[in-house]
Amino acid sequence: MSLKPPPYSRIAGTGGFLPGDPVTNEALAMRLARSGIETSDSWIIERTGIKARHFANDNDVCSDLALQAAKLALQAADCDATTIDLIIVATSTPDMIFPSTACIVQQKLGVRGCAAFDVQAVCSGFVYALTIADSMIRTGAASKALVIGAEVFSRILDFSDRTTCVLFGDGAGAVVLQSSDTPGILASELHADGRYANILCTPGTVSGGKILGDPLLKMDGPAVFRLAVNVLEEVARSVLVKAERTAADIDWLIPHQANIRIMHGTAKKLKLPFEKLIVTVAEHGNTSAASIPLALDDAVRRGKIRPGETVMLEAVGGGITWGAVLLDL
Ligand code: ACO
Repeated sequence: MSLKPPPYSRIAGTGGFLPGDPVTNEALAMRLARSGIETSDSWIIERTGIKARHFANDNDVCSDLALQAAKLALQAADCDATTIDLIIVATSTPDMIFPSTACIVQQKLGVRGCAAFDVQAVCSGFVYALTIADSMIRTGAASKALVIGAEVFSRILDFSDRTTCVLFGDGAGAVVLQSSDTPGILASELHADGRYANILCTPGTVSGGKILGDPLLKMDGPAVFRLAVNVLEEVARSVLVKAERTAADIDWLIPHQANIRIMHGTAKKLKLPFEKLIVTVAEHGNTSAASIPLALDDAVRRGKIRPGETVMLEAVGGGITWGAVLLDL
């Protein structure tokens, strides 16, 4: 008798973790004012929709946040960590150059043996990681995966640059993705265009025992904005075609939580009412690879997204990279 690989993957549980207390725009503005940097609650809200973000304390590294989110996802999926056979962490702020944050999370979970690696696609990282995990489950290479997006972006922010430091926050989100006889993930698509590598980057690296180049985040905000809305619409439509669905079938749209104006722009292009948008950017800021799984977990735990509903996840980030996943929860 030949063994047939399981045909589908499905999310079995979600988890999310935000470190510390929220840092409001007012509190951040006061902190920046001490260094002579001027900003305001009203500017940040009007341009981005962000009201607060969380920053990890100095002792916490990416894997600490990832671990908390992973534990909650395992609990929600009623799943023991020993049954996980794949761990993928999407992050641009890993604990160290190597080993991967995924290996460190595996160790902190007290398990061993399963495949573990990181994915680096900046804000699209979770969509990339979920697509890889889905592919591995559908080909039989794994049967139960922990897919995590985790970031400590505060470590690479330039707090003397008001055009970027007000946008980002720290956090982690996770899902347990497992093989299933019925479809969870319906279709997905990933893209990148390295010609735009310099519009959003952290160009520094380590060489000869020293930091070489600038290790803080740089962004051409208006350039990212212009690209983001177009690629997000294109990829969402393409994934709908692949899944033989239409935009009317989407119950919830979870875009990468970068900026409320990009999210509204994408929803408008897809002719989706704003009520179908899951929005956490106000409380979380932009947590890069963590933003989508954090928003998903928040909506699931609030009972907003229910089992069986159809959800579109979509993201754009440094690289530039972009992608989307359509799934039935
Ligand atoms: N507080 C007060 N004033 C500010 C601040 C601030 N924090 N930041 C910039 N300004 C000023 C600028 O100096 C400029 O002043 P000037 O007109 O006197 O020169 C003015 O505000 C307008 O600056 P712009 O950069 O043109 O502002 P814009 O309307 O483009 O908004 C923003 C900037 C929010 C970054 C916008 O470009 C944007 O949303 N871009 C998308 C990029 C994004 O969200 N990136 C997140 C990471 S990428 C990702 O996750 C996909």
